[in-house]
Amino acid sequence: MTEQASWQDRILKPDTAVEQMKQKAALRALEEVEHGMRLGLGTGSTARYFVDGLGAKVADGLDVVCVPTSEATRQQAESLNIKLAELDDLKRLDITVDGADELDDALRLIKGGGGALLREKIVAAASDKMIVIADDSKKVATLGAFDLPVEVNMFSHGTSAAAIGDALAATDNQGAISLRGGDSPFITDGGHYIYDCALGQMNDPEALAQALLTVPGVVEHGLFLGYATAAILAGTDGLIEMGDL
Ligand code: A5P
Repeated sequence: MTEQASWQDRILKPDTAVEQMKQKAALRALEEVEHGMRLGLGTGSTARYFVDGLGAKVADGLDVVCVPTSEATRQQAESLNIKLAELDDLKRLDITVDGADELDDALRLIKGGGGALLREKIVAAASDKMIVIADDSKKVATLGAFDLPVEVNMFSHGTSAAAIGDALAATDNQGAISLRGGDSPFITDGGHYIYDCALGQMNDPEALAQALLTVPGVVEHGLFLGYATAAILAGTDGLIEMGDL
């Protein structure tokens, strides 16, 4: 009789150091998952390792129910037979595990590099805990080197972009604002466009977050303030944990 391989033997095998780090962070987060939990599944290359590992454990009998934060994650989860549900039906989630484009000491995040910020924020807001998983290059002293994504309605989006510029100026921020995808604009899962704001160094993230939400046409922005409760960062020297896991 052949023995079934353990779940660790059935997960992705990344071949570069940075991908291995992302997977280490993801697998550490997987240790926080318990039988019966309701989970939010993040989007992006790091979250993908978490979903992959979760799928392997589900195949071994782990019983969880999950809400994906993008169509890409939904497809991955479905391919792994992970049980999915609507957030409207579950109402609250125990943990969301997601990547980030940047995070600072206060667990403030920039997200949306993959374009999934709207669903990611809705799911994070409905979660008792949000664990960020990343390689340690994502940790910064000041947010802003990564362009801040702002999701906008398609209607008269140029007018919204001009008003986003005003919101930047009003909060002492400056930088180019560009439509993601240019002449072939990127369209989000929600059917919107994204403007990326190249700030370099962000001034007063809280004020900027508020100002952006006053712009008609802005659906959501990629500043996640007060959502992450913990972070697991993987580096060449091992894992660093921040916040309360
Ligand atoms: C998706 O829209 C993003 O918020 C991702 O979570 C973020 O871009 C991190 O992605 P990676 O893990 O691929 O770096």
